[in-house]
Amino acid sequence: MTVEQTAGELYLPSVEIVNSAHINNRDVLANMATQDLVKFWEEQAKEFDWFSPWDKVLDDSNPPFYKWFTGATTNIVYNCLDRHVASWRRNKLALLWEGENGEQRTYSYHALNREVCMFANVLRSMGVKKGDRVTIYMGRIPELPIAMLACAKVGAVHSVIYGGFSVEAIHGRIDDSQSNVIITCDGGFMNGKTIELKAIVDEALKRCATVEHVIVVRRTGHEVSMESGRDYWYHDLMGLPVARSTGGGSRCETEEMDAEDPLFLLYTSGTTGKPKAILHTHGGYMVGVGTTLKWVFDLKEEDRYWCTADPGWITGHSYIVYGPLLLGATSFMYEGAPTFPYPNRWWSLVERYGINVFYTAPTAIRGLMRFGDAWPNRHDLSSLRLLGSVGEPINPEAWRWYYEVIGKSRCPIMDTWWQTETGMFMITPLPETPLKPGSATRAFPGVDADIYDENGRPVAPGEEGYLVLKSPWPAMLRTIYKDPERYVSQYWSRFPGVYFTGDSARKDKDGYFWIIGRVDDVIKVSGYRLGTAEIESALVSHPSVAEAAAIGMPHEIKGHAIHAYVMLRSGVEPGEDFENELKQYVAHELGPIAKPEKITVVPQLPKTRSGKIMRRVLKARAQGLPEGDLSTLEE
Ligand code: WT7
Repeated sequence: MTVEQTAGELYLPSVEIVNSAHINNRDVLANMATQDLVKFWEEQAKEFDWFSPWDKVLDDSNPPFYKWFTGATTNIVYNCLDRHVASWRRNKLALLWEGENGEQRTYSYHALNREVCMFANVLRSMGVKKGDRVTIYMGRIPELPIAMLACAKVGAVHSVIYGGFSVEAIHGRIDDSQSNVIITCDGGFMNGKTIELKAIVDEALKRCATVEHVIVVRRTGHEVSMESGRDYWYHDLMGLPVARSTGGGSRCETEEMDAEDPLFLLYTSGTTGKPKAILHTHGGYMVGVGTTLKWVFDLKEEDRYWCTADPGWITGHSYIVYGPLLLGATSFMYEGAPTFPYPNRWWSLVERYGINVFYTAPTAIRGLMRFGDAWPNRHDLSSLRLLGSVGEPINPEAWRWYYEVIGKSRCPIMDTWWQTETGMFMITPLPETPLKPGSATRAFPGVDADIYDENGRPVAPGEEGYLVLKSPWPAMLRTIYKDPERYVSQYWSRFPGVYFTGDSARKDKDGYFWIIGRVDDVIKVSGYRLGTAEIESALVSHPSVAEAAAIGMPHEIKGHAIHAYVMLRSGVEPGEDFENELKQYVAHELGPIAKPEKITVVPQLPKTRSGKIMRRVLKARAQGLPEGDLSTLEE
């Protein structure tokens, strides 16, 4: 989906929005940060609680291995729970949840903290300690954030795998992280159906050696197999005295962590078949995420905030779990599909829960828009104050629908550009920012974004180039787990000393950024990030497939959809339903989100003389566009 630059169209926020916002002097802050980046972030860090203070705000002695708040100790969970429980917020609602089947649950800060403490005691009793990796693979239920928080509380490093991934994706991620403990559930409810989760874990574990314990939350209640000595029900463990081990109550000491100690790994797709584990830390991540959420979504003490993402992606980590809790906010989480049982489910939730700030993705907007205005118009959406968008460029048509039909032309849309790697919003409006539909507007104060040409020179306004970040920021990834060389080569080598985002973009004459899309082998399907190599490696693991190439083709709702080209092994005749069989196979191995939209069997694939598949040629052919320079194509 390309974003047309809509010249001259400017949407101004109302006086009330601007006057009531935490920040209405963006330029002043941006200037402060430009003058003294270290002091700027130091001021923000003072909003959080630390066990001991930092010696240095930013240690840039060994770039690109930047360190933030060195010498300081804290724990993000101390800031998310402990400090609120010790304040008047103890009885404030932290989390409201609704299941797809209409079931409801609410947690005050006290109740959430209690559950986290009990589960942290369970983890400790299983031998989980500081630095251990724990894999979490669950549906969108409260136990997912509870598990993440419990891990962080005891200093373990969580690795959440999105529930839309499947057997091989899970195996690869468990193997790489060497987790001993997996937390999952029997299944999930989605679109009125029961999704298998435990059965998929069982299959993945046949391929993994390290796992000792599997903790299973009961959600659906359907029959699952439990391996004696390995698998435990969450509710059984939570009923045991170990869960209440400290003083008979449900207290649990929060581990004191170094600011630079790892908080989590999150696997994301890149240019190779092997997803990379992005590593984030307790200190800098906390400061970056808390500050950006407060300023951009302007959360007020009495607000109800809903981010529709899944906790299994970075959006969920930063802005469902950690961000809102850091601010002591009340957030809402919904388990199921937006269209279940009817396409008004989300709008009915906004009305019933009185949501004030609503954050979603362009693909969801496009998907719901197609059902027409009548569905949202049946609901009172007047509680909404601010809207948000993330994951891919939002096309102006969807932007306007979101703005007019959902926000009734009252609610500014925060189009936030960021990445798994950045941890926090990087290019984004603030509530006070005049908006242009399709533009993520300007860099967050303290963020140094620019657009470079091939040779690393800034391009002129209006010209397309590579989006780069020129200064470090606190929530930045610290490395790729176990692969620091890849961290340097992937992000810091194209333009030495500068972070390469993998996106192309333009800046207009007002300094507004217009993101165009990925320039690497990443495909954004419904906002989900998938690597062509990952999809190809799933395809070639099928016994009939010799070689495969995957490309992203423009798609009206999904933004991009996967089209795959496969060459069969010699002697293999494709059966009647081969394409469907192969699609199902990819869904089973990698996950339903990676299922190709279209598969074409071809006699050969276009390759360079050195044997590299020329995906760009396939893409041009598929779109009927000029094939470009073919001089390297093999005969
Ligand atoms: C890529 C990162 C960060 C949360 C979800 C995605 C694209 C993200 C926007 C936006 C245009 C966007 C970029 C980026 N992207 N937000 N507002 N406008 N493009 O995280 O899976 O790490 O993907 O998503 O291409 O590089 P992710």
